[in-house]
Amino acid sequence: MLSTFLFSLLFILNPFFTSFSLSQSVNYTTNSGICETTPGVSQYSGYIYFDDDEKDAMWFWFFQARNDSSNKPLTVWLNGGPGCSALIGLFQEHGPCTVNADSNSTTYNPYSWNNYTNMIYIDQPFGAGYSTGSTLVNSTDQAATYFWKAFQIFFADSTFSAYKNNEFIIATESYGGRFGPVFTQYLQSQNAKIDSGDLDAEKIVVSKLIISNGKHDPLIQMKSSITFAQDAPGYGPLVNDSVLAEVTKAFNVNCSPGLSDCYAGGNDTVCHDALVLCTHQVFAPTVGDRNPDDLRQNSTEQLTEDDDEDDYSDIFPPKYYSTYIRSSSVKKAIGAQSSFDQCDTSIKNRFSNNGETGRSFLSNLAELADAKEVDILIWVGDSDMKANWIGVQECIAQMDWWGNETFSNLNYTTLVLDGNYVGEYKVVPNGGISFVRVFEAGHTMPAYQPKVAQTVFGRFLNGEDIGGEESQSSDEDSALSNAKFPWRWWIIGFSIYVLIAT
Ligand SMILES: *[C@@H]1O[C@H](CO)[C@@H](O)[C@H](O)[C@H]1NC(C)=O
Ligand SMILES: *[C@@H]1O[C@H](CO)[C@@H](O)[C@H](O)[C@H]1NC(C)=O
Ligand SMILES: *[C@@H]1O[C@H](CO)[C@@H](O)[C@H](O)[C@H]1NC(C)=O
Ligand SMILES: *[C@@H]1O[C@H](CO)[C@@H](O)[C@H](O)[C@H]1NC(C)=O
Ligand SMILES: *[C@@H]1O[C@H](CO)[C@@H](O)[C@H](O)[C@H]1NC(C)=O
Ligand SMILES: *[C@@H]1O[C@H](CO)[C@@H](O)[C@H](O)[C@H]1NC(C)=O
Ligand SMILES: *[C@@H]1O[C@H](CO)[C@@H](O)[C@H](O)[C@H]1NC(C)=O
Ligand SMILES: *[C@@H]1O[C@H](CO)[C@@H](O)[C@H](O)[C@H]1NC(C)=O
Ligand SMILES: *[C@@H]1O[C@H](CO)[C@@H](O)[C@H](O)[C@H]1NC(C)=O
Ligand SMILES: *[C@@H]1O[C@H](CO)[C@@H](O)[C@H](O)[C@H]1NC(C)=O
Repeated sequence: MLSTFLFSLLFILNPFFTSFSLSQSVNYTTNSGICETTPGVSQYSGYIYFDDDEKDAMWFWFFQARNDSSNKPLTVWLNGGPGCSALIGLFQEHGPCTVNADSNSTTYNPYSWNNYTNMIYIDQPFGAGYSTGSTLVNSTDQAATYFWKAFQIFFADSTFSAYKNNEFIIATESYGGRFGPVFTQYLQSQNAKIDSGDLDAEKIVVSKLIISNGKHDPLIQMKSSITFAQDAPGYGPLVNDSVLAEVTKAFNVNCSPGLSDCYAGGNDTVCHDALVLCTHQVFAPTVGDRNPDDLRQNSTEQLTEDDDEDDYSDIFPPKYYSTYIRSSSVKKAIGAQSSFDQCDTSIKNRFSNNGETGRSFLSNLAELADAKEVDILIWVGDSDMKANWIGVQECIAQMDWWGNETFSNLNYTTLVLDGNYVGEYKVVPNGGISFVRVFEAGHTMPAYQPKVAQTVFGRFLNGEDIGGEESQSSDEDSALSNAKFPWRWWIIGFSIYVLIAT
């Protein structure tokens, strides 16, 4: 009795104690018939309401797994930006459908990730995509608190509470190189408070973290844009020697010192200015007239500061979806209530003015890797210039974590799918990081290689070997690092040779 009383008193007196008002709720439409058309697979789209006064509401779209939903994990998908809508991921990368050229109809996507997991696509922070609200989120740290709160409200709903004990996975890309690790760590810190009795809320245990073409560390990744431009593996040199000399000088004289000042505790202005300078003097000249999302495509558009998933006029992937989801009939069906921008510039500007885009978030990822509580998949489309794969590989090799040397010393294994050489990978054993380079894929990697992405995603979720049965050890030299290596012809040729020789 007394202990119960004291325990209650502890809650009342504890400054961390939080409870939720009734205004925090979800409002959604059920089975709109938009996008997911598999019979018996439910979908819900709508808003998570935070606050009556601020009109803060996060847009979400939940798809049940296509089979055995109740026993499948729940995977959250977040796009980057910061400020870009998760509908990029839904319609262009790995959702249940893609939108046709008429911008008025959809095609079933057999490579949807909900073949393996329940998926929830969320537009965050407030103001991104179909999300609304007047609370201005300025940083990833702030965004993490709202992300946590969103799931407190979500799991309190009678429909979604059924998923609160399922495995919880965060998958993200690009600026998600910051969102993913920081959100995971914030959820862990909230869990610790719940465990110690400081907080009365629902624990959310992240089991896996998946980041594609992530932005982790500006200094390492800016430097790698030079290495990559000099000779992009599988694609060759991207710029001539005079451009190389120019960007190398700019890196050494301006960019690197600027970012180093930022890393050494520089204020918001120092960090913001360093990244702007690096983008203009180093990154932009290496891109030239190419599309930074995919070096195989051209673009004449002007690069802005720290371009992420902005509206480039990519030929591929096409943007048919953005017209489709803005149409009044679709908006009505899915319950969307605001105007839609693929990426919200004001959000990006707030994060950038706070210096965050110039800072490194590699230590967050390193801490997660060291703790070994979360399985980590880092994968990269290899024709992307915004977060090129060499730079991402360097981030993992250079960050302070127990597996960095093992990672550097490991050789790549070829990734073979349907007899094609589709990528390569290395996995640091005993709970280390899995790293996959996907051939012929740009910034939004699953858009370019949906089958490879779905296959690797499924294997990683199930704890299977990333390479499956087709892949095998490779100790070949870089001559084979050509995206179009005709694997099956080598096998056939070798078989014929063996037949003739014996
Ligand atoms: C669907 O899930 C059930 C139960 O886990 C399983 O027996 C069945 O093979 C699955 N079907 C497909 C197509 O994966
Ligand atoms: C879109 O498709 C619907 C039928 O699915 C049709 O009624 C409507 O006219 C079409 N709208 C446009 C603009 O083509
Ligand atoms: C994904 O699931 C759907 C529905 O069960 C199925 O038709 C489709 O073939 C699956 N895709 C793959 C690549 O297995
Ligand atoms: C973000 O910055 C603006 C302007 O400084 C401020 O009004 C707002 O409260 C900040 N947002 C949060 C969540 O602290
Ligand atoms: C190198 O490339 C740049 C950018 O395309 C071009 O302006 C310049 O003329 C080229 N220089 C030489 C020596 O080819
Ligand atoms: C930021 O730091 C720079 C360099 O130390 C300094 O010149 C500038 O005044 C600082 N700005 C603010 C807003 O503190
Ligand atoms: C891009 O532009 C270059 C030179 O301007 C041209 O040779 C190449 O064919 C173009 N590529 C595409 C995919 O349009
Ligand atoms: C709930 O959503 C429906 C549309 O899906 C909308 O008509 C209704 O106004 C919403 N309710 C609130 C309280 O926002
Ligand atoms: C690898 O991580 C350790 C700390 O775990 C650190 O001391 C070492 O400097 C790192 N190595 C490299 C090459 O960054
Ligand atoms: C990686 O490949 C090189 C060259 O083929 C070989 O010498 C080395 O032993 C391999 N390393 C590992 C860890 O297998």
